[in-house]
Amino acid sequence: MTHDLTPSDSLGGAIMSQIEQLATYSELANGLSRRYLSPEHRKANDQVGDWMQSAGMNVRQDEIGNIIGRYEGTSEGLPAVMIGSHLDTVVMAGKYDGMLGVTTGIACVEELNRQGKRLPFAIEIIGFADEEGVRFQSTYLGSRALTGNFDTALLERKDEHGITMAQAMTEFGLDPLRVGDAARQKKDILAYLELHIEQGPVLESENLPVGVVTSIAGANRMLITLEGVAGHAGTVPMGMRQDALAVAAECILAVETVCSEGDNVVGTVGKLTTEPGAVNVIPGDVQFTLDLRAAKDENRIKALEKVSRLMVEAARRRGVKLTLENTHQAVSVPCDDNIMNFIDQAITESGWPVRRLPSGAGHDAAAMAEMVPAGMLFIRCKDGISHSPAEDITIEDALAGARVMFKLLSNLDFSS
Ligand code: GLV
Ligand code: MN
Ligand code: MN
Repeated sequence: MTHDLTPSDSLGGAIMSQIEQLATYSELANGLSRRYLSPEHRKANDQVGDWMQSAGMNVRQDEIGNIIGRYEGTSEGLPAVMIGSHLDTVVMAGKYDGMLGVTTGIACVEELNRQGKRLPFAIEIIGFADEEGVRFQSTYLGSRALTGNFDTALLERKDEHGITMAQAMTEFGLDPLRVGDAARQKKDILAYLELHIEQGPVLESENLPVGVVTSIAGANRMLITLEGVAGHAGTVPMGMRQDALAVAAECILAVETVCSEGDNVVGTVGKLTTEPGAVNVIPGDVQFTLDLRAAKDENRIKALEKVSRLMVEAARRRGVKLTLENTHQAVSVPCDDNIMNFIDQAITESGWPVRRLPSGAGHDAAAMAEMVPAGMLFIRCKDGISHSPAEDITIEDALAGARVMFKLLSNLDFSS
């Protein structure tokens, strides 16, 4: 059944101005950083909730801190199509990663509301609380809580200031003992749709505004701790050192070598701290993170095993104690065939060629796919840059994305 929705051209501008507003809620003065349960997360939720309400939705915040707006269908209480993405960011982030999916969803509902249209399903727009995992080193917290897959052991995980997730939730006004109440029932959600910037160069290189995601890469994250012996930089002979940073250097190069040899495997050491951190002291203690991903799980697991073995060997050879802590794991997830076909159709009807491509980045859609059919629409971004202040899209592409999402809503049919 089609409902022949015609979106207004003003949606592009509305989306871009909301993106600019959200970018002002930052923990940093010199760039965008909005971590889970920060005061800026509260501001973003409040603002998004206001926009949802103005667009004709009933708004609530769930027990993990996701903000959710519901637009009823042709009758009250129908199962919903969920459209969303995340409102948290990395450190020194771009403005569009996550936020574009939420604001486009709101714009679509606002347009439906303006036209006085109701669909044969409810629509819920969701701003997930944490997808990046920057604060507590575990990602998909919002979507995993919603699908009932939240690991409550994480409540005791500490941030870099020693604040546990449970404490941060309490400070935010949430009750950590009730986090299980964020879980939704499968029967109430028909599908999950996520619009997101591509975060890579493929669409731009092919001169296409939109693409259909086929799968989301699996990932592992680890925290590696090295305990060597600090000492005087001038007096300890080179052969007698237990330099934790020298081990870390070997480990980082092992990550680069192993991933370069792997089949579509990528590995990154994005954060490293060294103690005591003085020019004339041998580094005694080092901590660093590892993020390792691949489209195929077997390739990821093989690379991870090899990297871990090389790291253990380097530490043993240099007399340094090494501890590996697994902080996050996600298997690779295929998108739903049926939803991909609906997205193909919406793109074709919007006048663009269909381009299917996998996602190397993680997305809430991967966690949602454990419970409901999930699909993703990618939007071209400038120079393929993301997780950087240089992240950018055009207003024309924001409108293109909203148009495809409109068509998609118009075409979706769950009757068979
Ligand atoms: C999320 O953006 C991730 O893939 O790290
Ligand atoms: Mn991101
Ligand atoms: Mn994202």
